[in-house]
Amino acid sequence: KSLIHRLWKGNMSSRMLSKRLQIAMREYVNMNKHHVVYRGHRWTKMGRQELLCRLKSQLQVLTLDGRELPFSQLGWEKLVPGQPLSQLFESKVQTCAVVSSAGAILNSSLGKEIDDHDVVLRFNAAPTKGYENDVGNRTTIRIINSQILANPSFRFQTSSLYKGLVLVAWDPAPYSVDLLKWYRKPDYDLFTPYVRHRKHHPGQPFYILHPKFIWQLWDVIQGNSLEDIQPNPPSSGFIGILLMMVLCREVHVYEYIPSRRQSYLCHYYEQYYDEACTLGAYHPLLFEKMLVQRLNFGLERDLDRKGKVTLPGFSTVDC
Ligand code: C5P
Repeated sequence: KSLIHRLWKGNMSSRMLSKRLQIAMREYVNMNKHHVVYRGHRWTKMGRQELLCRLKSQLQVLTLDGRELPFSQLGWEKLVPGQPLSQLFESKVQTCAVVSSAGAILNSSLGKEIDDHDVVLRFNAAPTKGYENDVGNRTTIRIINSQILANPSFRFQTSSLYKGLVLVAWDPAPYSVDLLKWYRKPDYDLFTPYVRHRKHHPGQPFYILHPKFIWQLWDVIQGNSLEDIQPNPPSSGFIGILLMMVLCREVHVYEYIPSRRQSYLCHYYEQYYDEACTLGAYHPLLFEKMLVQRLNFGLERDLDRKGKVTLPGFSTVDC
């Protein structure tokens, strides 16, 4: 409980994590699988407004547009959607809901509130069927990692989870953003299923995030943390939150920073317990959440009861 309070107040460090998570974190720092070299500054003392302006000017949503090698040679300029992701929603889009997959959303009865947004974002294989009362039933956009595309057990081609909505996929690339290296050796092969899907369903907006965007987000998290964070990409949740801040006028995030219902049930749709899902082992989740907490302008009561964070869209931030 006190751990959660510390998250709400934004004063937590990795030393407050369990031994197991601390060791995992240290191992990832030592391994540095993606060859990360942070050259930026630390700006942990910035106020909220200054921080928002910094993010607004530093972040650009980039997706693969097929104009860079090796994708240009493979004819991807014609393969990717014609309309850029950043222009997908009209300006009438006011409020967006980001629904984390945390177990703590069970018994929240947040479904109706979530569905009342103009846009609803969900992650990976998170279902709504059978959980409508707690998570709602509308999905406008889904962020999926490359495992969803590559691992047949997720039935990407046939499952209704991935139909009739906007899809945004991502996969970790080297920090140097060497696209050829990445294309030859992604974490999981997302390229083959992407090409197949684009050919069969050209009308469905389906994007792959540019690794530059992923690592821009990582730089932002590191720049805002006193510690050396895990040199691994941010979680899908953090990617989705920042993406929505670019696309929407106001963003409501549910059960990313845990409510009083906090538990170590990893996902609301699976009987699997692991504190790493909430606090991070591979992903720098603790630091992502501390940053999101700093940007929150909602009430602490909403955090407590709903696990709800309120964030401004960048278009509404005057700098
Ligand atoms: O596990 P998965 O990545 O599919 O979950 C979607 C997102 O929800 C995560 O990337 C993470 O940001 C968030 N999440 C969380 N706490 C959990 C489970 C998921 O914050 N227990």
